[in-house]
Amino acid sequence: MQTIVRLADYRPSDYLIDRVDLDVRLHPTETRVTATLALRPNPDGEPGAPLVLDGDELTLLAIALDGQPTGPGAIAVTPRSLTLHQPPQRPFVLAIETQVNPSANTKLMGLYRSNGVYCTQCEADGFRRITYFLDRPDVLAVYTTRIEGERADTPVLLGNGNPVAQGEIGLTRHYAIWHDPHPKPAYLFALVGGRLGRVGSRFTTMEGREVEIAVYVEPGKEGRAGFALDAVARSMAWDERTFGRAYDLDVFNVVAVSDFNMGAMENKGLNIFNDKYVLASPDTATDSDYANIEAIIAHEYFHNWSGNRVTCRDWFQLCLKEGLTVFRDQEFSSDERSRPVHRIADVRTLRARQFPEDAGPLAHPVRPRAYREINNFYTATVYEKGAEIVRMLRTLLGPDTFRRGMDRYFATCDGTAATVEDFLAAFAHESGRDLTAFAQWYEQAGTPTVAVSGTYDPAARTYALAFRQSLPVVATEAAAGAVDRPQLIQPQLIQPLVIPVALGLVAREGGPVEAVSERVHDGVFVLETAEDTLVFEDVAAPPVPSLFRGFSAPVKVEHALTRDERLTLLAHDGDAFNRWQAAQSLAMDVLVGRAKAGAPRDAEAGPEGAALSAALATFLDGEALADPAFAALVLTLPEEQEVAQTLQAEVDPDAIWRARQSLRVQLGRDLGPRLRALRAALAEPAGTPFSPDAASAGRRALRNAALDLVTAADPDAGTALALAQLDAATTMTDRLAALASVSLVPGEAREGALARFGETYRHEPLVLDKWFAVQAMIPEDGTPDRIRGLMRHPAFSLGNPNRVRSLIASFSLNNPTQFHRPDGAGYDLTVEVVLALDGKNPQVAARLLTSFNTWRMVEGGRRRRAEAALRRVAEAPGLSPDVSDIAGRSLA
Ligand code: PHE
Ligand code: ZN
Repeated sequence: MQTIVRLADYRPSDYLIDRVDLDVRLHPTETRVTATLALRPNPDGEPGAPLVLDGDELTLLAIALDGQPTGPGAIAVTPRSLTLHQPPQRPFVLAIETQVNPSANTKLMGLYRSNGVYCTQCEADGFRRITYFLDRPDVLAVYTTRIEGERADTPVLLGNGNPVAQGEIGLTRHYAIWHDPHPKPAYLFALVGGRLGRVGSRFTTMEGREVEIAVYVEPGKEGRAGFALDAVARSMAWDERTFGRAYDLDVFNVVAVSDFNMGAMENKGLNIFNDKYVLASPDTATDSDYANIEAIIAHEYFHNWSGNRVTCRDWFQLCLKEGLTVFRDQEFSSDERSRPVHRIADVRTLRARQFPEDAGPLAHPVRPRAYREINNFYTATVYEKGAEIVRMLRTLLGPDTFRRGMDRYFATCDGTAATVEDFLAAFAHESGRDLTAFAQWYEQAGTPTVAVSGTYDPAARTYALAFRQSLPVVATEAAAGAVDRPQLIQPQLIQPLVIPVALGLVAREGGPVEAVSERVHDGVFVLETAEDTLVFEDVAAPPVPSLFRGFSAPVKVEHALTRDERLTLLAHDGDAFNRWQAAQSLAMDVLVGRAKAGAPRDAEAGPEGAALSAALATFLDGEALADPAFAALVLTLPEEQEVAQTLQAEVDPDAIWRARQSLRVQLGRDLGPRLRALRAALAEPAGTPFSPDAASAGRRALRNAALDLVTAADPDAGTALALAQLDAATTMTDRLAALASVSLVPGEAREGALARFGETYRHEPLVLDKWFAVQAMIPEDGTPDRIRGLMRHPAFSLGNPNRVRSLIASFSLNNPTQFHRPDGAGYDLTVEVVLALDGKNPQVAARLLTSFNTWRMVEGGRRRRAEAALRRVAEAPGLSPDVSDIAGRSLA
């Protein structure tokens, strides 16, 4: 059993590494690496301690200390560590030669080959799979890397930092030398060698530095790299404008590879990407692909400051770089696109991914206190909730103080490995505020609930809002995590959180209410205690409160608004987010009511649903064409998983599906003529050139949201429309939306359309991923068998994470009725794949297993089958630490 690493046990390293000279001779199966490390004792470490270097599956070929072979008994070597028993207590040099096999590396950690291209992935602890090292983020060194390879296989050789030399070796080999002047931890190391196509351009920084920027892709795909290249330049300009951060090397390279465990990686000057987040053409990428590419390019680029120049002291501080960088990329996308639309999209992700995580057995604080396997903590909580904490800080301090705090953080922590405390100290200093209570957001797992009730006093002309915050005990219990429950917070120790409540009052007949309260500043009230009451003076008539505008805190709000009050907000709120929220809440009430009633046959005509369609009709008539992207979001019903979250316990996924289906049918019927008219009004005139911009994407989104509802209400007519769209479409967005609509209507038309699509794109793996996903999400009994069939498709491979995610994770995460089938066949399929994958790629296997994180919420029969499936995993022999950690915590 893997040991538990605890934040409380942090100690500085006993030794430091100032300089690393790496010499890497690439070979498909016998790559040799010579690492020359300039070491010295750490003044903050323990004098005379042995030097213990980390390793993982390494073969040691040679070692020398200060140029001399080490004496007998001086070192102890295993594949996982190299110990020097009595290191010199002065600066010294260790030269270590190791051998690795990149072709056999299916974990995709360390040095591996993807489609023949050599590449590396070192975060969190992959560098130790390349050489023995102090593989921890608080050991910062200056790297020089010499990479050597066959010219024919590896014409392109890339490293961190700036290129300094290159040359020939004999007839067939060549080398390149790269030097990175910025000290960095090993997890930011990278190299690439392969046959790659390049697109490039130049960027001049505000400091006058000329930077060569380039995107490398599979040869022949250069035409799909332009959007990513442009996103790099836009990211650079934005970070200068918004945060005063300039790029600090002469080159910035992005490389796309097809086998990658995550989205992308921010290696210094050499970002390596999952090609899904680089390659884009109208024919192969959807609008959301374009949006994701832009966001992830920005995210990795922004890490250059938030992550690289200032890195993390230890992995418990992961949110320090990830939460902050997600916040930064969200702001970038909001500025480049539509702010309210982007905010809504981000909140939907948070609710769909982070809220369930925080409510289930894998719940953990944004800064965990213990872990067994760090790779399992790259979670929605660390990333998305981490970003919400930064956003709340800005809301609390205001944009100017926030910016000064950021400047101070970068200035004081530049070149260091920092902590959450260092981050908060910068803001405390600039604002003069004590942020100790705010810091609880990093410590307490679980989504807080804020219950609000409003009271109008006509005599006093006051309006009082009473707030009460609570943290569900279930979340704190579940946060127990590792066996001895280091994540657990005793319920009695729960501290109130500092919750910024952005709010306003809306008049019943529309228009804002200009009421006063001394406790509201710039539209924000700060709830700091368990209970508090906010009183507005001089209020002429009972208003409708608009609370948590822009989703100002990651909380669940319990607020008993009437249907009419919600309709008022939908029609009149000055805050676009809350207008959308009002529509969602109206829909959620209908869905929850119908799901609880078991969604009987006649639900399709229910009066609350009719009231919602009436409100949506007015909304669409008034403004659908003015902001189609927003209108598309207003038309989109809460996902099944969100309804399940609202129901919390004894969930029947089939009842939720029927409830949602009944409402789709009802809206489709009631709004049908309008939706068809909208589709016509939004159709692009033939010959319109493609643009991935937010406005064009918004028009496509609304047309396709309309198609979805039309097809729900009238499957035959809808299918005909969708098939016509499939044929005529000039974008992947329209083609895929049509295919998705068709996929929900069983029959020959569907099977034919799926077969044609699969045939058309048989040589486009990233498009086949969409095709796999559409089929994996069909909410029908035949789906597990269909998936088993597709697993034998020539394009499918368990070795490629994108394929696994599209065919299997789409099923386990996004097909709730089939994953949670009463007969357990959905759990069985998932477990089968987890176990088959674990020996190859434990990280991806472990992530797939997190689909069970809602198992305690479902009704008894399913719950027992889910538990049995999890136990089968937990008890399987030879499990990886990754999967055994998730299985163990899920069952705890
Ligand atoms: N640090 C990467 C990011 O920007 C994510 C990642 C983590 C990639 C671990 C690979 C391995 O979010
Ligand atoms: Zn990141």
